[in-house]
Amino acid sequence: MAEQRDFDFLVLGSGLAGLFYALRVAERGRVAIVTKRAADDSATSWAQGGIAAVLADDDSFDDHQRDTLTAGAGLCHEDVVQYVVERAPAVVESLVKLGVHFDPAEEDAPSGGGFALGREGGHGRRRILHHRDATGREVERALVERARAHPNIALFEQHLGVDLVTTLRSGIAGPNRCAGAYVLDAKTNLVHCFLAPVTLLATGGGGKVYLYTSNPDVASGDGIAMGYRAGATVANLEFMQFHPTCLFHPQAKSFLITEAVRGEGGILKTLAGDAFMPRYHAMADLAPRDVVARAIDSELKRSGNECVLLDITHKDPAFVRERFPTIYERCLSFGIDITRQPIPVVPAAHYTCGGVRTDLHGETDLPNLFAAGEVSCTGLHGANRLASNSLLECAVFADAAAEESLKRLDEARPSAEVPAWQAQWVRGATSR
Ligand code: FUM
Repeated sequence: MAEQRDFDFLVLGSGLAGLFYALRVAERGRVAIVTKRAADDSATSWAQGGIAAVLADDDSFDDHQRDTLTAGAGLCHEDVVQYVVERAPAVVESLVKLGVHFDPAEEDAPSGGGFALGREGGHGRRRILHHRDATGREVERALVERARAHPNIALFEQHLGVDLVTTLRSGIAGPNRCAGAYVLDAKTNLVHCFLAPVTLLATGGGGKVYLYTSNPDVASGDGIAMGYRAGATVANLEFMQFHPTCLFHPQAKSFLITEAVRGEGGILKTLAGDAFMPRYHAMADLAPRDVVARAIDSELKRSGNECVLLDITHKDPAFVRERFPTIYERCLSFGIDITRQPIPVVPAAHYTCGGVRTDLHGETDLPNLFAAGEVSCTGLHGANRLASNSLLECAVFADAAAEESLKRLDEARPSAEVPAWQAQWVRGATSR
């Protein structure tokens, strides 16, 4: 039977943004995390590169901000860029405290704050903390473990948000606000009504709208649609980012080759062996990813070939296997030994730069509805996100949203006024 379930906080999505937020607010109340499949089935889990933070002695907040603004093509909000960049070292520290293992500094290798630092497209410095080539998987592992163990967090796997509960839709007078969500239990096919004074959308982006994407199947854009239908403003949805290098192989579904491969010296070449990137940008293979993706597209159109090649065969094979174990193994499973053969790659849809618009607290213009991570449009990315600023944005805005939600909790509890209409809704749903 369809039920009404009451919580203090409702979180839709179980990637970094949803989990980081849940773990913070769970100090003060009961949290429901609703997630479409298994808890770790999220875009976070698929993130290879890492998280950008200024930790090296030769780096500065100004440099990170400048790189972010340049990649964003003039459409980033400068106050947001400064806000996020300056909070990066602190959120890295929080992630470490939550049990995330970033690769430690090694003798004679570039490092900062005790961590190994990688480089990716658009970054003028090495500032990417990583866990080999599977950073997101490590972040997700640590946070899911914490969330499962937390007595105040209830994790609803195989549950899908259908629509947001709003007072307007429910015929309650006064300004419209969010009061929870209708949630489909995929196992029973029943839609339940989850109520909470504060709701966080953390459902990720909409890369699955495209046939060729680096995203997991859960990246269906449903959170953006839910926010829009409920009356929240959405923005910048025209800015879909294409990652330059996804594996091109008939059996390889959605497999990213991290930009860190180029950060460690990988070179893009045509099938004829021409290293073409210096012709397109002064940063060559480490140009911002929109530039690299367009350059590849233009080479493909010019040559009529189906892919280009990413060559890292000139690097020490032991280093390549150690630094990129996931990519090495996956490519090998398709018969490509990346220490000896270049990798066939093509651009693919990767990141939804727009989404549900938020302020600096992660709150949307639908009161009591917050958004964090790829579902949101905070103003950080502008027209084109800088590599490894996405996990960073998830954590910074989840933290800001948690801070504000905790303040709201006492003033926002809607449960006193909703039982009548909720009961009515639940009766209606049950009789369908
Ligand atoms: O290339 C990558 O590892 C992707 C990083 C990102 O999207 O931030």
